[in-house]
Amino acid sequence: MSSTTGFELHRARGPFNAAFFSVLGPYIEWNVRRQKRRVFAGLPRTVVELGPGVGANLRHLHPGTTLVAIEPNVAMHRRLRAAAERRGVRLDLRDRVAERTGLPDRSADSVISSLVLCTVSDPAEVLAEVRRVLRPGGTFRFVEHVAARDGSPTRALQRALRRPWAWVFEGCSCERDLAGLVRAAGFARVDIEPYRLHSPFVSFNTQIAGVAHA
Ligand SMILES: C[S@@+](CC[C@H](N)C(=O)[O-])C[C@H]1O[C@@H](n2cnc3c(N)ncnc32)[C@H](O)[C@@H]1O
Repeated sequence: MSSTTGFELHRARGPFNAAFFSVLGPYIEWNVRRQKRRVFAGLPRTVVELGPGVGANLRHLHPGTTLVAIEPNVAMHRRLRAAAERRGVRLDLRDRVAERTGLPDRSADSVISSLVLCTVSDPAEVLAEVRRVLRPGGTFRFVEHVAARDGSPTRALQRALRRPWAWVFEGCSCERDLAGLVRAAGFARVDIEPYRLHSPFVSFNTQIAGVAHA
């Protein structure tokens, strides 16, 4: 466990996840391209990203953008740096957790995340941190996977796979009501689109994309 971030990097699963998202990233991206295009449209020239991984969202930034990347899994860093260089994005990479970004109050115009609130240890704490760092009028834009409707077959599968899924994907949960948490986080306005993918990763198919306004 890092004493500065509190993030525990597993010797095998950290690099495995970096490789997994490098290989499957384009497939995931294809599935969520419409939602990402919509919520990431018109991002400013400086963006804070929580858990950028190996850089899935770099394509949604203008070349020349400065990306303040809060990424505690150092196994992701080499690929993220290389991808940012390819896309012409200036990378300000910070080995920190989203719960404690270390950024000043009201310093950011936009914070983005994709597939991260499922994995952080305390999503409500992360959302409070996002509100703290956003300027009034700033936006939090997100694409996340969430719990399926109670009583549905997908919900039952999410429950059944809870432990192995969390083990492989470093604490990831498919059972979080993230729309509810974002709405309860105290933003001035929240717009959320729920949608469903049709991928073989059934537990991961129930998703939301949205924008929360500070
Ligand atoms: C499922 S991956 C998604 C990566 C990328 N955002 C994407 O869409 O491909 C989850 C990411 O969240 C990062 N992460 C996990 N816990 C975190 C935390 N507490 N704060 C910030 N990032 C975290 C992981 O290291 C990983 O890069």
